[in-house]
Amino acid sequence: MLEKLREIEKAARESLAAVTDQTALETWRVTHLGRSSPLMQVFSGLSQLSKEDRPTVGQAANKVKVALESAFAERAEAVKAAMLAKSLEEEELDVTLPGRGVRVGHLHPSTQQLRRVVDIFAEMGFQVYTSREVETDEINFQALNFPPHHPARELQDTLYVDAGERGDNPVLLRTHTSPGQIRAMREASAEHPDDPPPIRIVLPGMCFRSEQITARSEVQFNQVEGLAVGENITFADLKGTLSDFARRMFGQNVRTRFRAAYFPFTEPSAEMDVECFVCGGAGCPVCKQSGWLEILGCGMVHPVVLENGGYDPLRYTGYAFGMGPERQLMLRYKIDDIRYFWGNDVRFLEQF
Ligand code: DAH
Repeated sequence: MLEKLREIEKAARESLAAVTDQTALETWRVTHLGRSSPLMQVFSGLSQLSKEDRPTVGQAANKVKVALESAFAERAEAVKAAMLAKSLEEEELDVTLPGRGVRVGHLHPSTQQLRRVVDIFAEMGFQVYTSREVETDEINFQALNFPPHHPARELQDTLYVDAGERGDNPVLLRTHTSPGQIRAMREASAEHPDDPPPIRIVLPGMCFRSEQITARSEVQFNQVEGLAVGENITFADLKGTLSDFARRMFGQNVRTRFRAAYFPFTEPSAEMDVECFVCGGAGCPVCKQSGWLEILGCGMVHPVVLENGGYDPLRYTGYAFGMGPERQLMLRYKIDDIRYFWGNDVRFLEQF
């Protein structure tokens, strides 16, 4: 009987060594430890043994059972580990790989540049004043000292919204941000007509002109207007502020120059050039070999404009300026066609 138990154990261990998966494992358990397995038959045959043999065989059979059970448990662990290793190897799911990114957009290059300009003036104490895009002839032109039929209107081809019954005061799309000067001054002076407060603002936003669309002209473009009004403001303040702006925007060592110009709403008027930041002033195609780039118009606010805003020109003076962020970007990045800005081509937009 003991010999038989040894054989049972040996056979069971041999067949367990060949088990490599879950199904075979279960089959093995039923075959070698199940109700009708040879080992269990030894247990049920115990009663037929003699009193003397019974305890010896019983103990031996128990030992075999415990040994086979623990061998089974060990094998089950090993099979489980092997299956996990196999599935990790076969299934090409790497949970440590980064996920698929969501594509986020970004601000339009013009908006970015607009904000750079505004940020610089904000650091100098200017506030942002947002004015409307749809204007009247009165505010866009007349209050800025362009009377009806004035030749300076030739400079700004206008898109009309409603001209019909309105005579000399049609509704139009603003051709520049300058009419915001009138709105800001009137708003401030309306509250304190006898003692209007000083003003220091920038006015960013879209402007519109009836242009033939070419590489150099568009029907829409942004401007940033500036206005400072107060007592004892001089041309020196204008030069200091705008030169400082140029250094902050284009580099600490950049030189500036002011050239006399004409605008109806400023007197005297000037245009400011910065030293060409592409060639450093040596002369290149961007600055047309001149070494200078024109970046803004400016001047001392015309007395008529101050008056139209509710500010007494005998007591107050002021300066104003206007610049184009698209132009600055075109110069900086050598963009040779203004139509890219509103062409909605991501190959262009993605570069900023
Ligand atoms: N409004 C002018 C234009 O669109 C730009 C300009 C020039 C604005 C001189 C100003 C200024 O405030 O003082 O051409």
